[in-house]
Amino acid sequence: MFKKPEDIEQEEIVKPGNKKGKAAQLLRGFKDILPADQHYWEFVRKTAESFYKGYGFFRIDPPILEEANLFIRTVGKGTDIIEKELFSFVDQGQGLVVLRPEATASVARAYINHGMMNMPQPVKLFYFGPMFRRERPQSGRHRQFHQFGFEIIGDDSPVIDAQIIAVASNFFRQVGLPDVSIQVNSIGTPESRKEYIKELVAYYRTKRKMLPEEARGRITKNPLRILDSKDPAVQLVNKDAPQIIDYLDDKSKEHFMKVVGYLDELHIEYVLNPYLVRGLDYYTDTVFEIWPQVEKETAQSALCGGGRYNGLIEMLGGRPTPGVGVAFGVERIITQLRNQEVAIPRDDAPQVFLAQIGDQAKIKALLLFEQLRQVNINVAENFAKDSLKTQLELANKLGAQYALILGQKEVMDGTILIRDMESGVQEVIDFNKTVSALKKKLFKPTAGV
Ligand code: HAM
Repeated sequence: MFKKPEDIEQEEIVKPGNKKGKAAQLLRGFKDILPADQHYWEFVRKTAESFYKGYGFFRIDPPILEEANLFIRTVGKGTDIIEKELFSFVDQGQGLVVLRPEATASVARAYINHGMMNMPQPVKLFYFGPMFRRERPQSGRHRQFHQFGFEIIGDDSPVIDAQIIAVASNFFRQVGLPDVSIQVNSIGTPESRKEYIKELVAYYRTKRKMLPEEARGRITKNPLRILDSKDPAVQLVNKDAPQIIDYLDDKSKEHFMKVVGYLDELHIEYVLNPYLVRGLDYYTDTVFEIWPQVEKETAQSALCGGGRYNGLIEMLGGRPTPGVGVAFGVERIITQLRNQEVAIPRDDAPQVFLAQIGDQAKIKALLLFEQLRQVNINVAENFAKDSLKTQLELANKLGAQYALILGQKEVMDGTILIRDMESGVQEVIDFNKTVSALKKKLFKPTAGV
């Protein structure tokens, strides 16, 4: 039964048995992104941003909450995302709403709502943000996770499919993960797929006895999902299953041949994977995923996935409009960067640490801090500490290039000490010249300029 917040008793929030109550906990499948991890996030975010600008995409930020119907109509009723994984609630007046499980449907909705069909086609859109799926929490599967994605709407050329795959492949090279495996397939049109599914169901029926319980349950409900099962018993049956590629119509076949032809021309290595079907209903023709290049890692740990969705805009009430796109899982990319010990550039070390001893120095230091910040000098401090030793240890730990030291003597003399943290060399300068002296040291002109 759904309770209104005002009906929840205080005891339900603060559990009895412990005077102070149980420590507040994270929800299952949710994570804090801690300060120590932020450099990874910044690195991925900045690289993604340089990609969208470099490849001529425009950023769009659809809302996190959408009508449930948006995803039910597009991602598909029989899919796990819709059947089991939506975070939903009934909103007074707006009906069933959900935390978005993905953003392609939102981008397509925005394309229709804002009349983007009247802009020069194709329209190239980029997004970055949190998505929500109530999956069984396990390694690589979170209930709140982050995706960034690239969508190209309004063009049907196979070169665009190849370009999207190239963007994804180049992204992994750029962040230092070149050893990835690009899996591609074509699932054709909904019509040719119907024919194929009929054959597939007939095949699985003849092998029913060899299939485990879970797969048997899917034979009529969602036979395509049996195809990408990780269960060795199912994989054995799949070996002789009919392959979707043999059921493509001529147009889809030609489209796919051209896509892989472009990939060859671009020297992008890929694996033709007849079992790759993807879990969302809106796909047509090209589908692909990029997996980490480690034997046991497969679709379960896909770093990105995407494909063509020529029927999506129409599913949402727009004019027939083709589209193709990809979305990357940020958490999974960061896990790979960590596991493969990729060196991440860090630019968060302060240039200067401002140390002070005594009340008078503290006041002067507060004012100086503000002056330094205003001229964009990255300065750190710990005004709560009085001991110089503690402050210099902190400066060291943070990796500051210089420490400024302001003690009682310096306050009396109108000076300040500048210490080069690497060499330990110190010099005394006029307090009023601190900013200009630091600027000279930090922003030295490059030789030859
Ligand atoms: P998707 O394959 O469902 O596709 O998700 C894309 C990526 O998001 C996955 O490859 C994975 O890296 C990450 N991901 C998905 N679920 C989770 C999870 N529970 N925890 C952590 N990471 C996860 C889509 O969402 C499509 N909208 C992609 C697309 C864009 N197709 C065309 N355009």
